[in-house]
Amino acid sequence: MKISIIGTGYVGLVTGTCLADLGNNVICLDINEQIIEDLTKGKIPFYEPGLEDLIKTNLDRGNISFTSSYEDAISFAETIFICVGTPEDDQGSADLSFIQDAVIKISDYLKDKDRHLTIFLKSTVPSGTCSSLQDKFDELLENSQSKVVVASNPEFLKEGSAVADFMKPDRIIVGTDDINVSELAKRLYRPVNWKSNRLKIVSIEAAELIKYSANAFLATKISFINEIAKLCDAVGADISEVRKGVGLDPRIGNHFLYSGLGFGGSCFPKDVKALIKTFTKNNIDTKILKAVLDVNDNQIDYFINKIHSVYTPKELKQKTLCVWGLSFKPETDDIRESLSLKLINSISGEVKHINAYDPVAMTRAKDSLSNIDNITFSRDSTEALQGADALVITTEWREFWNPDLESLEVLKDKIIFDGRNILDKKLLEENKFSYFGIGR
Ligand code: UDX
Repeated sequence: MKISIIGTGYVGLVTGTCLADLGNNVICLDINEQIIEDLTKGKIPFYEPGLEDLIKTNLDRGNISFTSSYEDAISFAETIFICVGTPEDDQGSADLSFIQDAVIKISDYLKDKDRHLTIFLKSTVPSGTCSSLQDKFDELLENSQSKVVVASNPEFLKEGSAVADFMKPDRIIVGTDDINVSELAKRLYRPVNWKSNRLKIVSIEAAELIKYSANAFLATKISFINEIAKLCDAVGADISEVRKGVGLDPRIGNHFLYSGLGFGGSCFPKDVKALIKTFTKNNIDTKILKAVLDVNDNQIDYFINKIHSVYTPKELKQKTLCVWGLSFKPETDDIRESLSLKLINSISGEVKHINAYDPVAMTRAKDSLSNIDNITFSRDSTEALQGADALVITTEWREFWNPDLESLEVLKDKIIFDGRNILDKKLLEENKFSYFGIGR
């Protein structure tokens, strides 16, 4: 099938590349010409395991190409996926302007043609967006032979495992009431759906809401366990034991119950806010989601207070902190809403120095933290420990899980603040380290 993808961010690039790998012919469009030039050479603008190799393979096979020309992309396509970003606007709602631009560009091309196109909208959008886009296309193409049908097809790709999530989906949601579109979706997704049927055809409004509800529910689990972790600190229980005991109930499950610094990234904070806005627009008060955000917004302060409980302001001013982890989670160089960066921004003025290290997010973090003058970016995790008084772990990269005790001995105060609960507390305490986790 000939497919065009509008937008080469995480969602568009992963979707386009995976569809190409499954035998389709794919053109990916982005208005950023530099990104397109790099992609044509097989260079991707972010770190996502497995993606660059898959792009190179499909470039070699001739299954994928990149363009900045709407004409090239639309003249080629039998089907279009819109995958542009919907960032948070000033009011906390989803900013739909990139989608609206795409609608205008597509209509402009189609208006003097006779083409029938299906558009799957993958961008995360509030309920009602797909039908208003359909109205917009109908209006713009009123005097044209061309016709566009808009369907909702939300993405459920986790950064760091996005290729695997596309190829082995836990569900594929398509919102449409058009039988031809559902047949098209079945054909498109057949290679990843033939083992067991995970494709659900639902109404457009339900599809839009499934996406927001899923992210909001996962965010709720995280804020819930972070609140329980505080209680663990207060009563002397270990959150790891509580989490495992609670998660054994199959009605609850053991996923997304890891306490830490709170949720970050490009999706959860933005999507929970946008869902709250949708509630408000519909005159419904959402107490739960407001509390989820509130707990999350305060979680980093809760952690920083642990540092304050150990050091007086005067002592802290003499201390060098080693910070391991800068990306918002492991296996990505994405620093959007990174709790690590929030922590550094918040505490850098109170400490003497910060030694920071991340396996892949250093370049992005350096740009973002260029306002801070008492930070050094180290070449590796061991170098970052040199000269430090205490270690602060902010992202649970695999290489941080089992550090060599000897290398930790260089910490002058032998203190570790573990914001992701990944280290062996018992072992560290046996070796005379002071350990502070979240809820343990
Ligand atoms: C999320 C959704 O999981 C995915 O389905 C959706 O399509 C896009 O948004 P992503 O933002 O890549 O994916 O990251 P995810 O793995 O969901 O983690 C989000 C945040 O929650 C991270 O900051 C992570 O550290 C935090 N988290 C996750 C916890 O604090 N505890 C947990 O138990 C799980």
